[in-house]
Amino acid sequence: MERVPTGIKGFDDMVEGGLVPSSVTIIGGHPGTGKTLFCSQFLYTGAAKYKEPGVYITLEQRAEDIKYDVKDTLGWDLEELEKKKMLTFWPLRIKRVFHPLEKKKVLTMSMPELSKKVIEMIDSTKAKRLVIDSVSIIDMMFEDKFQIRSELVALFDGFKDRGVTSLLTAEIPEKGERSEFIDFVGDMVIKLDTMYVRDEFRRIMTVTKMRRSEHSHFIHPYKITKNGIEVTKL
Ligand SMILES: Nc1ncnc2c1ncn2[C@@H]1O[C@H](COP(=O)(O)OP(=O)(O)OP(=O)(O)O)[C@@H](O)[C@H]1O
Ligand SMILES: [Mg+2]
Repeated sequence: MERVPTGIKGFDDMVEGGLVPSSVTIIGGHPGTGKTLFCSQFLYTGAAKYKEPGVYITLEQRAEDIKYDVKDTLGWDLEELEKKKMLTFWPLRIKRVFHPLEKKKVLTMSMPELSKKVIEMIDSTKAKRLVIDSVSIIDMMFEDKFQIRSELVALFDGFKDRGVTSLLTAEIPEKGERSEFIDFVGDMVIKLDTMYVRDEFRRIMTVTKMRRSEHSHFIHPYKITKNGIEVTKL
C-alpha cells in the first residue's frame, strides 16, 4: 500500500513506511510530550520533500509561536513555506459570548460552521496534509457529544473524499480522565508518554490502533533533539 511518510526518524518504520493515505490519526499525550512538534514535522516533510501543501489549524497556540519554536528547535523555516503557499496556518479561536436576543452565552462558531470552513480551507489550498492542534477544546466546548461525534465523522469523510491525511492532537491531563471518544473515530491512535526509570525520565511512544495496517506493538522510546522527534531503534 502507498504510504504518507511523516519524516519522523524511526516512526515511519514502526508503521510500515508511514500513515495510511486519507486516514485520520489521533496523537494523544500529556503536556510537553511533543505533539505539536510531531505535527510540525509531518507538515514540513509533506511541503518540503513531497510538494504536498499542508494546513495547520491551531486552536490555542499562536501560529507565530509554533513557527518560532520549530525554527528554534529544528532550524526549519515554516514561514518560507508559508510564503510559497505550501503551508497555511489558521489560528482558530472559538469563544463563548453573550447573545442579547437569545439572552444566553453562545459559541462564536458552531460545529457545522467549523467543518464547512475546514473543508473550504482544504479546497482553496489544495492541501494533502492537515493538522488540528488540539481537538480537546472542541470536545470541551460542544456539549452535545453525539452531535460532535457525528459531525466529526462527516468532516473526516470530507478529508477522505479529498485525499487529505490528517493528524489531530488530544491532550491527556496529568491527572484525571479525558474523554476518549475521539480515539474511536480516528483510524489510528498514537500515544506519547513519559515514564521514570530510576530517577531518569524517559519518553515513550506506542501505536494503540491502526486500521487497515500492521503496526508495531512495542513501547518505543523516543527523544526530542535538535533533529526533532527521533524514535529509538529497538
Ligand atoms: N531543542 C530541544 N531539545 C530537547 N527537547 C526539546 C527541544 N525543544 C523542545 N523540546 C521539548 O519539546 C517539548 C515541547 O514539545 P511540544 O510543544 O511539541 O509539546 P506538546 O505535547 O505539543 O505540548 P502541549 O500539550 O503543551 O501543547 C518541550 O517540553 C521540551 O521538553
Ligand atoms: Mg502542543
